[in-house]
Amino acid sequence: MRIGWKSIVAVVAGLPVAGFLVIQLGLIDVRASTGHWQVTDWFLHWVMRSSVTAAAGSTEAPPLDDPGLLPAAAAHFETGCAVCHGSPAAKRPPIGLAMLPPAPDLAHVVGSWSNEELFEIVKHGVRYSGMPAWPSQSRADEVWALVALLREMPSMNAAHYRNLAGAPPAGRGATIEARIAYCDSCHAADRQVGNSVVPILSGQSEAYLLASLQAYHDGDRPSGIMETAVSTVDDTDFSKLAAHYARQSAVPASVSATDPVVLRRGETLAVSGDPARKIPACAACHGTGRSNPLFPRLDGLSSRYLASQLRLFVSGERGGTSYHHIMAAAVQDLEEADIDALAAYYAHLPDRQ
Ligand code: HEC
Ligand code: HEC
Ligand code: HEC
Repeated sequence: MRIGWKSIVAVVAGLPVAGFLVIQLGLIDVRASTGHWQVTDWFLHWVMRSSVTAAAGSTEAPPLDDPGLLPAAAAHFETGCAVCHGSPAAKRPPIGLAMLPPAPDLAHVVGSWSNEELFEIVKHGVRYSGMPAWPSQSRADEVWALVALLREMPSMNAAHYRNLAGAPPAGRGATIEARIAYCDSCHAADRQVGNSVVPILSGQSEAYLLASLQAYHDGDRPSGIMETAVSTVDDTDFSKLAAHYARQSAVPASVSATDPVVLRRGETLAVSGDPARKIPACAACHGTGRSNPLFPRLDGLSSRYLASQLRLFVSGERGGTSYHHIMAAAVQDLEEADIDALAAYYAHLPDRQ
């Protein structure tokens, strides 16, 4: 039997109409409760794996074996990830299990992904699955801290995880002490292990702390970690929290031995700047006797934090209070070696008290 061209045209024209009717009559089942067919599940994961692997090809992981990355990552995981995935200290909650696909127990699956692939998943999320993207797309450093934590998860027991994550966020109606305990799970002096990603708050002026909290809240200072943390407190608590940390006496971060030549390079730039390269003296704004309470002190902050903030200022991604533009202008001509030297110098400054 010959199939005439008229029949072919009729079928081709009819297909969209049939498709339209199938959808319009509600015959496609979108209920998560009925699950996927095995073949759909296989197909979606094949697409996901291929997409993640391709995207990760152009990414290169920094060193991730520093213990300074873990406490903040664990405390963030507790607020931002455990609600779906569970954690080494808690079974997967019913919501995570009832998703389609279910949010997996990460300790069991991370071994099948490279660091770069985990970075892609955590930074960008997974479409059509409920796995959300990282709140602040302009930053990579915070996502790498999460990847460092994920790598440790298969061998992490509940006690170790609890110890890293600290106090959970306080719920509505909780006391200010409970809120401070939550902030302290990342910011307390005794949680600043190794070369920490978390800044020391004690000794910073109340005005700077308050304006910074407001900047995270308003989206003027991108940080997935701090945007999540401030979302757990009322903005009416900001001034109490700022006053609490400003009252505390400052504790310097722990420092590792650094080449004296690097420290001298940092000191020269900090104290005198480099007029030939249009780099002003940092001490003009950050020295003792700072003229403006919105100019933060830098002495004793960890070198990792200082360097990451300087890189964010240079690339235009730092944001901050209404003064952040003058800081960005001051450091726009810094080179990588300047950043390392300045970060090492300020981390070593002994006069923070
Ligand atoms: C709203 C629920 C939800 C939250 C919150 C969430 N995830 Fe997920 N996540 C999922 C779901 C669902 C999947 C499964 C995606 C798939 O299999 O296609 C997933 C997948 C993943 C995967 C890939 C694992 C695999 O093999 O499928 C990683 C890694 C991951 N999430 C890490 C995180 C981290 C880290 C956080 C916190 C920053 C987080 N997730 C927050 C729901 C969530
Ligand atoms: C999960 C860890 C974590 C928690 C919990 C947390 N912070 Fe932070 N905080 C950070 C990190 C990481 C940064 C640096 C973010 C950046 O790069 O801007 C930061 C930055 C800050 C800054 C800016 C300091 C500076 O020198 O510029 C302030 C102020 C602050 N946090 C206050 C708080 C308060 C108040 C709370 C409690 C509501 C809190 N944080 C809870 C990790 C945390
Ligand atoms: C003209 C004044 C000025 C000069 C000069 C200046 N800064 Fe700043 N700096 C600021 C201000 C203001 C902020 C606060 C930005 C904000 O968050 O709004 C800041 C913030 C910073 C921060 C972030 C601190 C934190 O707790 O997050 C670092 C690091 C820093 N400056 C380093 C430097 C270095 C290094 C130099 C010298 C190369 C320098 N600054 C020169 C005004 C200045």
